[in-house]
Amino acid sequence: MFKRTLLVLPVVALLSSTLLTGCDDSKTTATKTVEQPTQKILRIGTNPTFAPFEFQGTNHELVGFDLDLIHALGKQMGYKIEVSNLGFDALIPAISSGNIDAAISGMSITEVRKKAINFSNPYYTSGLSILVHSDNNDIKSLKDLEGKKIAVQIGTTGAEKASTVKDATVVSFNNSNEPFMELNNKGVDAAISDHPVIAYYLVQGGSGKIVGERMNAEDYGIALKKGNDKLTKEFNDALNALKQNGEYDKIYKKWFGS
Ligand code: ARG
Repeated sequence: MFKRTLLVLPVVALLSSTLLTGCDDSKTTATKTVEQPTQKILRIGTNPTFAPFEFQGTNHELVGFDLDLIHALGKQMGYKIEVSNLGFDALIPAISSGNIDAAISGMSITEVRKKAINFSNPYYTSGLSILVHSDNNDIKSLKDLEGKKIAVQIGTTGAEKASTVKDATVVSFNNSNEPFMELNNKGVDAAISDHPVIAYYLVQGGSGKIVGERMNAEDYGIALKKGNDKLTKEFNDALNALKQNGEYDKIYKKWFGS
C-alpha cells in the first residue's frame, strides 16, 4: 500500500507539473502574441506650454494638436505612446542621450537643429510674430524693436530672432506663456513667439496685438535621434497615411477650424 502510494505520487506530480507547465506555456505564448503590438512603447517628450499645440487641460492632462497627432501616429505605427513633460531646451539633449525616442513640441525644422537631430517630414507650417501692448503705436516691425526689451522662451526660434535685434534686451523664460504674462505686466515692450500660438492666446482673451508681417516661414517636424532613420521613416509613412485617410484633417479642424 505504502509502496504503491509512493510509486503513484511522483507520476501524479510529474503529470500535473507537465499539465501545469503546458498550460502555462500556452498561456504565455497566447498572451505574448496578443500583447506584443501594444508593448512597443514610444517615449515622447513635449513642453506643454504652447497652446494650441501642447498644453495642460483642466485636470493637468496634456492636450493639443501635437498630442492628438502623436497619438494618432502611434496608433498607425502600432506603438503605445508615453508622453513626458520637459523643458523645451531639454528636448534635444533628451533625444540625443536616448532618454526619449522622439519629441513633438511645435519644433521648427532648422538647419542648425538638423545637424544635431533627425526631423520627420513637416506636419505644420508656422512662422514668428511680434506681440505688443494694445496701446503701443511705435512698434510696427522687427526694426522698431531696436533698443527695446523683448520676452521670449529659451531655446526657441523666437529667442534666436530676438537676439538679432540691435541693442535689444532679450528676457528669456522657461515656458512659452511667461513672455505673454511679462508683456501683460508691462515688464517688456514686446514678445516674439510662433504666430499660431500668439493668435490662439488672443482668441482666448489674452491682451495685446500682433504687429508687422509674419516672420520666418517655419515648418514643424517631429524630432528624433540623429541617424534613427528607421523610426524617422516609420513616422513619415504614418504621417502620409493620416494625411491620406482624413485623420490629419480631422485633427487639424478640431484645433484650427476649417
Ligand atoms: N517653433 C519654435 C521653435 O521651434 C517654438 C517652439 C516652442 N514649443 C514649445 N512647446 N514650447 O523654436
